[in-house]
Amino acid sequence: MLTTIYATAFYAASLLLAVALLRRIWLYAATPAPLKIPTTPAPLTKGGVAFRMLREVTVFESLFKANKWIWLFGWVFHVALALVLLRHLRYFLQPVPLPIVLVQPLGVLAAYAMVAGLIGLWARRFLVERIRYITRPSDHLMLALLLAIAGSGLVMKYFARTDIVSVKEFFLGLIYFDWRPLPADPALIVHLTLVLTLMVVFPFSKLLHAPGVFFSPSRNQADDTRERRYVPPPRLESAPRRS
Ligand code: HEM
Repeated sequence: MLTTIYATAFYAASLLLAVALLRRIWLYAATPAPLKIPTTPAPLTKGGVAFRMLREVTVFESLFKANKWIWLFGWVFHVALALVLLRHLRYFLQPVPLPIVLVQPLGVLAAYAMVAGLIGLWARRFLVERIRYITRPSDHLMLALLLAIAGSGLVMKYFARTDIVSVKEFFLGLIYFDWRPLPADPALIVHLTLVLTLMVVFPFSKLLHAPGVFFSPSRNQADDTRERRYVPPPRLESAPRRS
């Protein structure tokens, strides 16, 4: 029964995540950018834009220039999340590739860094008056959800161990349509339910800034209006219209 519920839930959530995320990315791509508005100083060439984007998504360059504290907590959280997710690939790949084997110990340290980063980001929403004023319930909810996922993961790792071999069999079973039982451990069920929630909420939430940053005109445009006339790309048929 538990296996059927969670197997069905993971199929449904994966489908929803993929379809809703692709639709959202399509909307971003189809939204007209009628003006040249790169934030200056901006690169003059397409290669320069690619390098700027790379710096933006790897070291959060503009955030670094804007605010060192938010940068510190934000960057630590995102790098830690990436390492945690890489560590999790062991549940979905058989055999486990060497880089994923090597990242395992780092992934555990990253879990603490992820929690520290999230606590820092959350504290700022209470302690900085200006930020508290613009904080909405969804900001708290996303932070709480991510913190609860990391917390339940750490609880599983240190206090309420689950049978990770069976967990892996369950997820490989989902991939190969050969269902295997899911262990009925409370911490695991909490962890997976929170992950399902994240998958469902992601394409409708502020977490869309992850794909969104690539479509930001102030970041993805070259400052070349003195070299060539700027002609906005033609409007796509399905481009969102202003009401
Ligand atoms: C379907 C997806 C997922 C599965 C099957 C899963 C499963 C697990 C399991 C079994 C553990 C315990 C590991 C152990 O005892 O050694 C764990 C730990 C953890 N999980 Fe997940 N998890 C999933 C998604 C996520 C996501 C999306 C995040 C973060 C947003 C996350 C964050 C963590 C953290 C921080 C830990 C503790 C450190 C570690 O052992 O890796 N998990 N997870």
